[in-house]
Amino acid sequence: MKMTKELNQLFNEQIKLEYDSAFIYLAMSEWLNQNNWVGAGHWMEIQYREELAHAEGFVRYLTMRGEPVELLQLATAPKEWDSILDLFQAALKHEEFISESINKMADQAEKDGDRASRLFLQWYINEQVEEEVNANDNVMGVDRTQGHIVGLLAFDDLKGTRKWTGEEVPLFS
Ligand SMILES: [Fe+2]
Ligand SMILES: [Fe+2]
Repeated sequence: MKMTKELNQLFNEQIKLEYDSAFIYLAMSEWLNQNNWVGAGHWMEIQYREELAHAEGFVRYLTMRGEPVELLQLATAPKEWDSILDLFQAALKHEEFISESINKMADQAEKDGDRASRLFLQWYINEQVEEEVNANDNVMGVDRTQGHIVGLLAFDDLKGTRKWTGEEVPLFS
């Protein structure tokens, strides 16, 4: 079954958005490292790698379906945040935006009766629930320190324990 042009376009735009996400999180990692939040910087570096895997998962799916892959112009990543709280709030907002974008793809796949795409997207829908939980945890973790350095240092240490275990995107190996 051929994918509709509309859905193919949404897939290609999503590939760009996942790479944009990777760039944003790499930029955030850099900012955190520069500001001596090395634990949080490490956490964001793993987030960057996850986003690369998300993008590659979409590329691989289009390839398997014999659909054109278009690598669109990426956005320039932001580089300044007012504070560590501001940075994590921006990350949460970004994940909410990505969830909406993936939901729109699922709507289109349903409209097209493209069951393979709809099922493929389920992994990403579930992943976004987790992404929003993690992003929200980070905002709350920073917020509840109320700016106290001891609390912030404990938060930073905790973020430094995150392990990269690889991202098991479907069809991606
Ligand atoms: Fe993603
Ligand atoms: Fe994400």
